[in-house]
Amino acid sequence: MAKKPEFASKIGLIAATVGSAVGLGNIWRFPAETQANGGAAFLLIYILCVFLLGVPVMSAEFSLGRAGRSDAIGAFKNTGGSKKWWAVGGLAILASYFILWFYMVVAGWTLEYLFQSIGGSLYDFTAGMTEGEHFSRKMGEFISSGWNPLINTFLAIGINLAILIVGVQKGIERLSNILMPLLFLILLIFCFVSLSLPGASEGLAFFLNPDFSKITPTVALNALGQAFFSLSLGMGILITYSSYFPKETKLAKTAVTVSLLDLSVAFLMGLIIFPAVMSFHLEGEKLEGATLIFVTLPEIFSKMSFTRLWSSLFFLLLSVAAITSTISIAEVTVAFLQDRFRMSRIKACLATLLPLFLFSTICSLSQGPLSSITIFGKNIFDALDSLTTNILLPLGALLLCIYLGWFAPKALLKHELSNNGTIHSKFHNVIYFIIKYIAPVLIALVFISGLIR
Ligand code: PHE
Repeated sequence: MAKKPEFASKIGLIAATVGSAVGLGNIWRFPAETQANGGAAFLLIYILCVFLLGVPVMSAEFSLGRAGRSDAIGAFKNTGGSKKWWAVGGLAILASYFILWFYMVVAGWTLEYLFQSIGGSLYDFTAGMTEGEHFSRKMGEFISSGWNPLINTFLAIGINLAILIVGVQKGIERLSNILMPLLFLILLIFCFVSLSLPGASEGLAFFLNPDFSKITPTVALNALGQAFFSLSLGMGILITYSSYFPKETKLAKTAVTVSLLDLSVAFLMGLIIFPAVMSFHLEGEKLEGATLIFVTLPEIFSKMSFTRLWSSLFFLLLSVAAITSTISIAEVTVAFLQDRFRMSRIKACLATLLPLFLFSTICSLSQGPLSSITIFGKNIFDALDSLTTNILLPLGALLLCIYLGWFAPKALLKHELSNNGTIHSKFHNVIYFIIKYIAPVLIALVFISGLIR
C-alpha cells in the first residue's frame, strides 16, 4: 500500500478542514435555524455549543484520526480499543456515504443557479407574476423537473472525481488554499453591501440583540445539533482528514482555529441575510432551507442594481462551499477503500463516485417523478437527510466520545493532544473531562430528540 499522504503545510491543512466544515450548513441552514429559533438568543447558545462541545469533540476526532493513521475503521482498530469498536467507524463511513447521495444533488442545484445567474435566465421574469412567485415557480420546476437537474448533479460528481483523483496534497489541499480565501473575500463583500442597505439595523437587532425569554431546551438542542452538523462532527470526516495531519500539528489549537473560522462564516451569513431581508421587507417569508437560497435571495438580488453580478458571486460562493464539503465527505469512503481493500487511489475514487451516478439520480428524481416512493412519510431525499443529520450524526459523535472517554487506552487523548508530552496545557484536561462526562450526556439528548422528531 502507498505511504499515507500528509497535508504539506499548516495553512493548507486548516484550509482543507475549514473547507469541509464550511458548507451549506453555514450558508443556508444556520440563518434558517437562527430565524426559526428566535434570533440572537439562538446565536448565543450556538456560540457556547461551538466552544464548549464542538472544540473538544473536534480535538477528540483529530486525536483518534492522527493516532490511528488510517480510515475511520482503522482508526478504531489501530488504537487498541476492544474489538467491536471498529463498527463505530463503519457506521460513520456508511453515514457519510449516505450524505453524499443527496449532498451531491444540492451541489448540482447550486451549479445550475450559478450558470443561470451568469447567463441571466434566472431573472427572465414572466408577466403577471410577482418576483416571489417567479422564483418559487422556478425552484419548483427546476428541482422537481425530473431529468434536468441531473446534468448538474453529474457535473458535481465529475468535479469531485477530478479533484479527488489528483490526491490529498495536490487536489484537496491545493484547491482549498485557493477557494477558501475566495470564499471569505466574497462573504466580506456581501457583508459590506448588506450592512449599507437602508434599514439594515433592524435586521441586525434581530440577529444580535438577544431576547433571553426565547431560550428553551428545544432551542438549545437545535443549537447543539446545528453546531455538530456545521463542524462536520461524527461522520468520520475529521478522523480521515486528521490521519493526514503531520505529527507536529497542535490538535487542540487547530480545532479552535477551524471552529472559529467555521463560526465566523455562519456569523457573517447572519450579518448578510438578516439586514437584507429586513431592508427589502421579506421578513414574512420563512427562511427555510431551499427557499431562503433559491427564492428569497434571488428576490433580494433582483431588487439591487447589478443583479446578475451579485447573484453570480453568491452562487459561486455556494458552489465553492458545496464542493469543498463534498470532497471531504467522499474522502471518507476513498480512504476506507484504500486502507481496507488496498485499492489504488484512482480505483478507490472511481469506486466511491461512479455509483453516485445511480444513487444521486434516485435522490434527485425523488423530488419529482419518484416522489411517490416514501420512507416514514418522506421522499427518499428527505428521509436520507433526516436519517443522517438527526440520527446517525449525533449517534456517531456520541459513540466516539464514549470510546475515547471510557474504552480507548487512557493515554491516547492526552498523548495526542500534547504531541507526545511536548506541549503542556491545562486546556487538555478540560477537553478530556468534557469528552468523558459532559459531551456524552448532551449529545445523547440531541440524539433522543432527533429520534422523536
Ligand atoms: N459541515 C458541512 C456543512 O456545514 C456539512 C457536513 C455535515 C459535511 C456532516 C459532512 C458531514 O455544510
